[in-house]
Amino acid sequence: MAESCAARNAFWRHFTTVFHLTPFVFPLKLSTTMEKVRRTLIAGNWKMNKTAAEAEELTRGILAEIGKVTDVNVVICPPFTALERVSKVLGNSTIQLGAQNMHFEPSGAFTGEISAEMLRNSFCKFVILGHSERRAYFKESDELINKKVLSALHNKIKPILCVGETLEEREKGKMLSVIKKQVLGGLAEVSKEVAEEVVVAYEPVWAIGTGKTATPEMAQEVHGAIRKMLAQLFGPVSEKIRILYGGSMKPENAKELLAQPDIDGGLIGGAALKASSFAELVKIALAQ
Ligand code: PGA
Repeated sequence: MAESCAARNAFWRHFTTVFHLTPFVFPLKLSTTMEKVRRTLIAGNWKMNKTAAEAEELTRGILAEIGKVTDVNVVICPPFTALERVSKVLGNSTIQLGAQNMHFEPSGAFTGEISAEMLRNSFCKFVILGHSERRAYFKESDELINKKVLSALHNKIKPILCVGETLEEREKGKMLSVIKKQVLGGLAEVSKEVAEEVVVAYEPVWAIGTGKTATPEMAQEVHGAIRKMLAQLFGPVSEKIRILYGGSMKPENAKELLAQPDIDGGLIGGAALKASSFAELVKIALAQ
């Protein structure tokens, strides 16, 4: 799309120069009625739940309900120990596999860790990075998360970079500065050429697993601000980067959240652990 616009623009510039007309350019961003700029993405973060056998059962349940969906991207992120079994069950379906973490080094003496290459070999197309639980319990810094983001991109795995403020930070009015630090820190050195592969997930910490959800307006405010941060970093490519909402998203509140202009999908925890509620969320996204 970008190349064909660029080619058309070059042609028109030439044409208008030759005929002394005022040059104009075609907008890169198509109207949403013509074509969606960003494909909605619904990702399930299973966290530390499900043995390999249970994961297989859940995957089969999800496949039975939404195994052929193409208009919405669907990703499931089981624990490492279930990746292989789940990838076999997924086979050639349209549902893609993701992991919940990784190390930034390709291999070596890092007991207990998993590299991007190992994930790619397990057919992972996505990896969740910088989740607030990893930031809080495992003291992951923006610098560390950034190394992981770069390593994932280098290995052709799409990073889902999680950002979000705590309740205390929100109440002290620090919400946007905290998020800006996480976005700019997490995406440092990412080039414009690969920026489109990045997914950002806004997950207010106070909404994760608590049943409290940001209102659609609260979420859109932050998503809009994140889009501006991405524009600062990457220019027009920012329009193609998906920003997911996460934090107690469920079938009851998804429609209004997904209707917001800068909410491009969801990162789902609790509601992803049941095939019926996860499938329902995907169907709501399809109906948008
Ligand atoms: P939740 O989790 O949907 O259970 O709030 C979301 C997440 O932590 O990714």
